Amino acid sequence: MTDAEDLRLAHRRLDSLLGRFLAAADAGALPPSREAIAAFDEELRRHTALEEETVLPPAAGHGLAPAESETAQAGLGRQLRLEHVQIRELSGQMRRLVEEQGDLAGARRLFPNLARRWDAHTEREERDLFPSV
Ligand SMILES: [Fe+2]
Ligand SMILES: [Fe+2]
Repeated sequence: MTDAEDLRLAHRRLDSLLGRFLAAADAGALPPSREAIAAFDEELRRHTALEEETVLPPAAGHGLAPAESETAQAGLGRQLRLEHVQIRELSGQMRRLVEEQGDLAGARRLFPNLARRWDAHTEREERDLFPSV
């Protein structure tokens, strides 16, 4: 059983890795930026996989598309899974830019998009999902 408090703590660790990336990227420091985004990306993949296996309502109907008679719980689960896909995609893109091309400026440009999605996602989970975990 996964404890809601552990999931909340994982959100805060991930928040702080994003903060470390931002500070390092704004200082133009490549190695610590690379380390922070790689750590974020890895921990993000572990965290979202754990949520998908343990606490998210199971996907109903056809994959990521809404089923016709979807319950509110199933709808929440489907939307949170879709947000995981989008957030992992952005994080992976930033990591590749930094690791494979040393393109810190390119990754920094994607940061507000990732941070906005991540903040909205975690707020929603902590408000709508974790109380019932
Ligand atoms: Fe999540
Ligand atoms: Fe989460």
